[in-house]
Amino acid sequence: MVRETNVSLSSLIYPLFVFEGRGPKIPIASMPGIYRWSQEEVVKEVEECVNLGINNFVLFPVFPDSAKDKLASKSFADDNFYLHLITTLKSKFPHISLMSDVAMDPYSSDGHDGLVIDGKILNDETLPILGKMAVAQAQAGIDIVGPSDMMDGRVDFIREALDESGYSEVSIMSYTAKYASACYGPFREALDSAPRSGDKKTYQMDPANRLEALRELELDLIEGADIVMVKPATLYLDIISDIKQHSNVPVAAYNVSGEYAMVKAAAEKGWLDGNRMMNEMLLSISRAGADIILTYFAKEFAIQEKEK
Ligand code: PBG
Repeated sequence: MVRETNVSLSSLIYPLFVFEGRGPKIPIASMPGIYRWSQEEVVKEVEECVNLGINNFVLFPVFPDSAKDKLASKSFADDNFYLHLITTLKSKFPHISLMSDVAMDPYSSDGHDGLVIDGKILNDETLPILGKMAVAQAQAGIDIVGPSDMMDGRVDFIREALDESGYSEVSIMSYTAKYASACYGPFREALDSAPRSGDKKTYQMDPANRLEALRELELDLIEGADIVMVKPATLYLDIISDIKQHSNVPVAAYNVSGEYAMVKAAAEKGWLDGNRMMNEMLLSISRAGADIILTYFAKEFAIQEKEK
């Protein structure tokens, strides 16, 4: 009765890594319990999750090097399996909320979220590519596009591109305060998307900065973000709290791959109680002010709730 915070399954988003074609799921070594799913197998996985009560998903595509180029052209090409998969999942499960990733890194031969010319990431030149990517995903039937690239001005650019193409009903979940964190290591392994040279510090935020998150928030709200996100989550609870206090749209937090990997590794060694850690972690993120949590724990949490 007097409990102030509750984590509810309906506010969790489950990230899924997907690759083209058929074949069995492939385990990700640094993320026990998480897999790369083939385009064919992931449909069954989504069905299983839906039966467990999970209704929100974010899809991250994995591409072989042969599909990558400097301009990330595959991201909006007709033969991009990711777009076909969006259409398949929305037609089989019309009631789910499906989110996409908008960034160049899975498609880029440079492994960066933006366009690289002469060793520099070019902000403004990246925007039209992100715009085309978002429109292609909208055309495929996505509900919410998720720009994770951190280029300046992209929410405005994507909003305009979507509206001009007749997709005003597609929402934008913006990665508002995304820090240049060591916590993304396992994700980059899962997607084989680590930068080929340099790092992401010219566009992701300095972990030392707190006020800057509010500047990013202000821009995203003006530009038309429907949901604003903080990433990573547990090392940035102060940022979640600040953003919640200053935002009039829902606040999401991304409990990222490294946060999941830390809990799983310690639990495997028997050094921490993995289940208690999961619950405490999700609770602390909610308590800080997150309305929505993207988490690799979603399925485990759903199973726990079902068994209660
Ligand atoms: C990049 C992207 C990253 C994540 C989501 N989108 C990694 C990065 O910035 O290199 C990380 C998610 C995670 O670690 O779970 N577009």
